[in-house]
Amino acid sequence: MSDPWVKLELDIAQFDAPCFEKYVTRCGADGIRLTTLAELGDTPAHRRVLYELNKECSADIPERGEFYSFDEYVERRFAAAGYDPRGVVIALDGDTWIGMAATSRHGDFVFNEMTGVRAAYRGRGISIAMKAFGMAFARESGATKVRTFHHPANANAIAMNRRLGFVDAEG
Ligand SMILES: CC(C)(COP(=O)(O)OP(=O)(O)OC[C@H]1O[C@@H](n2cnc3c(N)ncnc32)[C@H](O)[C@@H]1OP(=O)(O)O)[C@@H](O)C(=O)NCCC(=O)NCCS
Repeated sequence: MSDPWVKLELDIAQFDAPCFEKYVTRCGADGIRLTTLAELGDTPAHRRVLYELNKECSADIPERGEFYSFDEYVERRFAAAGYDPRGVVIALDGDTWIGMAATSRHGDFVFNEMTGVRAAYRGRGISIAMKAFGMAFARESGATKVRTFHHPANANAIAMNRRLGFVDAEG
């Protein structure tokens, strides 16, 4: 049986950072601030806000099913060996968290755990900006690749990653 997931990867050395800088600049001009969970503070309260944002955005992933409980989320994301709050990019409109691009570290690659933008903010380049912003962490962590996989029906997420230069993963 063939693998149902669309597996994508990006060679960090090939990432065209200057090409995507304008998305980061546009976010700033629109009043959207990009930062990381490490900068905001990896506190219990912020972990709860991140959970709620992730849960809301994940409701739009095809066939995602019921989302984790908060305790399950803590176990899977914050207690995982690859967790690093510097790899969790947050987009804020004022004090409101409106987007996230979370990665984890795995030796020579970083894995995209979740990218999500609240529905009212979609289609403005915010996911591209967050992922471009997060590329510095991927590079600094010593990784050579960023990996992700998606449900084949998640056309927006697949298009978003291909737009950034992700290609079908080998093997
Ligand atoms: C996928 C998601 C994060 C995209 O966020 P976004 O901020 O709206 O995306 P952007 O505006 O940055 O668009 C980036 C690119 O994605 C593609 N894209 C995004 N939304 C699209 C849409 N509705 N139709 C077609 N292409 C789309 C385009 O290629 C676009 O680049 P372009 O505008 O230069 O052509 C958002 O739709 C979302 O949160 N979905 C629910 C959660 C999810 O499925 N996450 C991925 C699984 S981890």
